[in-house]
Amino acid sequence: MTRLKTKSSNTAKLTCYQRALGHAEVGSPIANDYIALHLLSPKVRAEIIDAGKRRAHINRVSPTYSYINARNMHMDRMVLEAVEKGFAQIVILGAGYDTTAHRLLSDRDVQVYEVDAPTSQADKKKYLAAAGVSAPDNLHYIPIDFNEQSLRDVMLASPYDPALKTQFIWEGVTYYISAEAVDATLAFIQESSATGSIVAFDYIYADVFSGNLSYYGAEEGVAYVASVGEPFTYGIETETLTEFLEQRGFTLVEHYTGPEFQARYLPEGRFPRAYEYMGNVVAVVK
Ligand SMILES: C[S@@+](CC[C@H](N)C(=O)[O-])C[C@H]1O[C@@H](n2cnc3c(N)ncnc32)[C@H](O)[C@@H]1O
Repeated sequence: MTRLKTKSSNTAKLTCYQRALGHAEVGSPIANDYIALHLLSPKVRAEIIDAGKRRAHINRVSPTYSYINARNMHMDRMVLEAVEKGFAQIVILGAGYDTTAHRLLSDRDVQVYEVDAPTSQADKKKYLAAAGVSAPDNLHYIPIDFNEQSLRDVMLASPYDPALKTQFIWEGVTYYISAEAVDATLAFIQESSATGSIVAFDYIYADVFSGNLSYYGAEEGVAYVASVGEPFTYGIETETLTEFLEQRGFTLVEHYTGPEFQARYLPEGRFPRAYEYMGNVVAVVK
């Protein structure tokens, strides 16, 4: 994370911006992140509030806009289902400017852990404070560099309890870290949470890295993240996914391709076509 050592994540800001666009354009109960707008600069905020300028923004970023809003619905769903099932912990890995803890969990009987680069966390705290959004009492900020530090050491030094059933949200992260860090994260989840714990994550199709940019939105996506200093680094072959997870002690319970993700979460006609170079996984700890 060379850039992230000194600066907060640009791609975290980008996903926050997409959620702010979604909430302003479509609103709840589909695009629920009412806090995102308040974490952006006054200039961008004003442009999102203005319907004409907002549409111009959406047209410019439409495949990402749709994907990120679908993903936010997915994450909200996973977290709320976990709480309903009585899970005691929610761990948000690479949380960025995620506001799940503030929007959905402040009055619930769960402990929430946001694990992220310290630079991204520092900016997030600053923006939340400026927006007058206070941190819920059940939220723990855990700083880490996934590529250089042991997630296990960092988590076990916190109040996190490895004996409890836990929902892990790991969205928008696997493709920015090393293969070793992906394996170490899955090993931590497998070994240091109760059987039946759940991880939800997305991944880039591995052939994108061997030059297949024919998936909808791939060419622009790959170029954009490289241009902001956070290039994609890692992918998984969908054909090997079940085996990949089994070997690491997980059972695959849900998988969505891009079009399936759009169909599951985005009402027809309300969102443009989402990008299609990623899959979404829900897996359970055996
Ligand atoms: C695209 S953002 C996703 C943020 C959030 N999950 C969301 O969906 O909006 C990627 C996040 O991963 C974090 N990240 C990337 N590489 C990291 C690393 N090596 N160590 C810690 N965090 C990292 C960044 O700080 C950033 O918050």
